[in-house]
Amino acid sequence: MKRAPVAGALVKEETLSVIEGIQGLPLVTGASTGIGAIYADRLARRGYDLLLVARDGARLAALAGKLERETGRSAEILRADLTHGAEVAELAHRIEADESLALLVNNAGMGLPGGLASADADDVARLVALNVVTPTLLARAAVRSLTRR
Ligand SMILES: NC(=O)c1ccc[n+]([C@@H]2O[C@H](COP(=O)([O-])OP(=O)(O)OC[C@H]3O[C@@H](n4cnc5c(N)ncnc54)[C@H](OP(=O)(O)O)[C@@H]3O)[C@@H](O)[C@H]2O)c1
Repeated sequence: MKRAPVAGALVKEETLSVIEGIQGLPLVTGASTGIGAIYADRLARRGYDLLLVARDGARLAALAGKLERETGRSAEILRADLTHGAEVAELAHRIEADESLALLVNNAGMGLPGGLASADADDVARLVALNVVTPTLLARAAVRSLTRR
């Protein structure tokens, strides 16, 4: 049986090397667990303060506390359901307006465990919102902010 790669192995040093020299706050979506939490950890250890976004406030707070203790960096947490248009719009507004933000790790996402054919139609719509619409809107906000500066 094919095994899923461990999240840590998916966060490559080459990927992180592109941020060399970037000053300002990285925003990591889907930071409460998995690949997003690994990005948060690696970025904090490189000296970055962070803005961490996901739905589970307790898991975000636990990660932020651990990173603050272990690295001395500060980590703000922001609870948001990125399948909800109003919450996405609020985050996009923050990305566009907050000039301390310098990097967007557009990581939050979901899969369809049983496959597409047996998936509930509402779950498919949530997947498209979370994996396609939201990252595109957040990227748009980031590009608008970065090109204005
Ligand atoms: N792991 C792999 O092998 C692999 C390989 C290739 C691609 N991917 C993709 O990469 C992405 C992350 O993978 P992962 O393994 O780290 O997944 P994961 O462990 O399930 O983590 C997903 C993250 O997204 C957040 N999230 C889920 N739904 C959300 C929502 N509606 N609003 C806001 N945040 C939400 C979760 O936090 P909350 O539950 O707290 O909201 C969690 O922090 C997924 O799209 C996955 O399909 C994964």
